[in-house]
Amino acid sequence: MLILGIETSCDETGVAIYDSEKGLLGHKLYSQIKLHAKYGGVVPELASRDHINYIIPLINDLLKDCKINIQNIEAIAYTSGPGLSGALLVGSSVAESLACALGIRSIPIHHLEGHLLAPMLEDRKPKFPFIALLVSGGHSQLIHVKELGSYKIIGDTLDDAAGEAFDKTAQLLGLGYPGGAALSKLAEKGLKHFELPRPLLHSNGLDFSFSGLKTAVLYLVRKQKKLTKEIKADIAYAFEDSITDVLVKKTIQALKQEGLKRVIISGGVGANKTLRKKIIAECNQNEFEYFFPDLTFCTDNGAMIALAGSLRLNMPPKENYSFSVKPRWKLTEI
Ligand code: KG4
Ligand code: ZN
Repeated sequence: MLILGIETSCDETGVAIYDSEKGLLGHKLYSQIKLHAKYGGVVPELASRDHINYIIPLINDLLKDCKINIQNIEAIAYTSGPGLSGALLVGSSVAESLACALGIRSIPIHHLEGHLLAPMLEDRKPKFPFIALLVSGGHSQLIHVKELGSYKIIGDTLDDAAGEAFDKTAQLLGLGYPGGAALSKLAEKGLKHFELPRPLLHSNGLDFSFSGLKTAVLYLVRKQKKLTKEIKADIAYAFEDSITDVLVKKTIQALKQEGLKRVIISGGVGANKTLRKKIIAECNQNEFEYFFPDLTFCTDNGAMIALAGSLRLNMPPKENYSFSVKPRWKLTEI
């Protein structure tokens, strides 16, 4: 069965076609990063307007590249929450009207479920149950994934999400927005000169708190007489070392606590090389299996939504083509 996936929850317009037998046939992504960079964050109204400009041309290009006639698409999956309401409305209205015109199923998808299932786009797919470390711009969660649709959140952020902490630290170092990937690149040139706090590292619980770490970076930056390239790289190194230590320690703690042996890392911060290296080392030591999506599918994309749609095909279909977006949809409310 051929499923078209549409993602417009934030600042990326993503579309993909997934064949439930053959896997991913193609995907396209338009990132609005440049549009929002000058404001230091996503401007919701601009995001919605840009999704309107790009969504139809992207779908047309994708169909052309995959040599698929739109009449052959058999279901349309789209992100209906959580996210920016205007941005979600663009994807939802395009998906529902296309599905209505073609007389096919529409499948609303939870954005975080898309991230959770993204490792299943790879040839080596994780089997249920597993622990998911979901680290993105808006979330840092540890989730016990029992099966499709059964998600127990066992650890959450008390304040800033991991991606948010990366972005705010990057901003303090003058790396622009969103700075996670740039900070990580800079950290590769850094040395272990500074020590930053590792919040909640030794707590018994699985929650995260990163706002104190960000404040510690702010004071460290202010303390420097001159913020040279070398010092910036050393601060980036110290920040990345600290945040990844906490993320990895809590993930291993979660696996042990829940008695599971399989973990997946997903979301934008899941593309972080240091995080991956540390997770691999710890998993090897504890004989846990680990799974990551391809780097392209860590950040927002249409492929993970199309895949989630294909896995939800045998669930009861929606009754009609009406829709409502859910900007604050909780994963446990699916
Ligand atoms: O999953 P995502 O695309 O969007 C949300 O759903 O939030 O994640 C975006 C986040 C941003 O905060 C970005 O800075 C961060 O992921 N990110 C990274 C890296 N690549 C993207 N953070 C650390 N290291 C990276 N390599
Ligand atoms: Zn996301």
